[in-house]
Amino acid sequence: MSDIVIATRGLSRCFGDFVAVDNLSMNIPANTVHGFLGPNGSGKTTAIRMMCGLLDPSEGEVEVLGMQVPAQAAIVRRSVGYMTQRFSMYEDMTVEQNLHFLCRIHGLNASERRNRVTEVMAEYRLGDLSSRAAGPLSGGQKRRLALAGAVLTRPKLLILDEPTSEVDPNTRREMWESFFRIAATGTSILVSTHLMDEAERCHALTIMNQGRKVADGTVADLKTSLNATVVIVSGPDVASITPQFNAAEEVLAAAQSGNELRVILHNDVAQPEQFAQGVAGEQYRAALTDATIEDVFVVVTSEGERD
Ligand SMILES: Nc1ncnc2c1ncn2[C@@H]1O[C@H](COP(=O)(O)OP(=O)(O)O)[C@@H](O)[C@H]1O
Ligand SMILES: [Mg+2]
Repeated sequence: MSDIVIATRGLSRCFGDFVAVDNLSMNIPANTVHGFLGPNGSGKTTAIRMMCGLLDPSEGEVEVLGMQVPAQAAIVRRSVGYMTQRFSMYEDMTVEQNLHFLCRIHGLNASERRNRVTEVMAEYRLGDLSSRAAGPLSGGQKRRLALAGAVLTRPKLLILDEPTSEVDPNTRREMWESFFRIAATGTSILVSTHLMDEAERCHALTIMNQGRKVADGTVADLKTSLNATVVIVSGPDVASITPQFNAAEEVLAAAQSGNELRVILHNDVAQPEQFAQGVAGEQYRAALTDATIEDVFVVVTSEGERD
C-alpha cells in the first residue's frame, strides 16, 4: 500500500443547487496528525462522510487506505475508526455495553472483546463509568467514550470530526495527548477543527472555506510561505488607531489583543515596520513577528474572497 492514507481528486458534493464541497483534491500521508481546519459550514463533515463511504460524491474520486470509495465502501467503513461530530452511541446502553456491542459488530470473539474493552476503558478513564448509561454522560465523558469506540479495532486510520467540541480545556488537552499517542503507534489521524490552537498542533493542515480548499501543507510551510507580513503595534491607545489601519489598502487585517494591535500587511509593503510606525504615529512602536496559523487563515480566506 502507498504511504498516502486518504487521496481525493476533484471531490464535490451538491445538495440541490448548493455546493457543500467544491472540487477538493487532497493527499494525507501515513503516520501524521493531519488537521482539517475550517469554520462551521465549510464542508468538513460532508467531505469526511464521503471519505468514510457514508455519502456518495456528486463528482470526483476518493481512495482510502488504497481502497476505492464508494465501490469498496463497506470494507472502508470497517477499516476506518470514525468519530462522528454528533454523539452516536446508544444512549440507553451503558458505557461497557456500547463498547461490547461495537466489538461484536467488528467480529471480535468473547475473550478478545473482554480484553479490548477493559484496555480501552482504562486508557480513556471510563472504568468508573462502565455501568453508567451513555445518554446522561457529560460532554467530555461522551467524547472519551466515542474515542475509545473509534480505536477498539486499532484501525490504521482514524477520522475524528470535531472531537473536542463541548469539552473543557483539561479534557481537550488530554484528548490531544491521546491523539499523538495513537499516532505514535502507526495510526494516521485526520482531525477536523475550527480552533486555531488545535490546528497549530497538527503536523499538516488542509484549510477549508465555503466548500473549497484554500491552502494546505505542513504548519511550518504554511507560515513561512505566507503571502503577508505580520507586525505588532503597541502603545497608549491602540483602539484609537485601529480604524486607520483598517482603512489602509496595504492592510489585510488588524485585530486588537490587549494593549497590542496585530496587523497583517500585504507582502508588497517593502518596509513593514516603518509603514506601521507611520500609520500609528510617534507614540507607538512597531515590530515584526512570526505568523501564526490564525494569520495564515485570515490571509488565505481573504485571498479566496478577492478572486
Ligand atoms: N444533508 C444536507 N442537506 C443540505 N445541506 C447540507 C447537508 N449536509 C450539509 N449541508 C450544508 O453543507 C454545508 C457544509 O456543511 P458541513 O459539511 O456540515 O460543514 P462543516 O462540517 O465544515 O461545519 C453547510 O452549509 C450545510 O448546511
Ligand atoms: Mg462539521
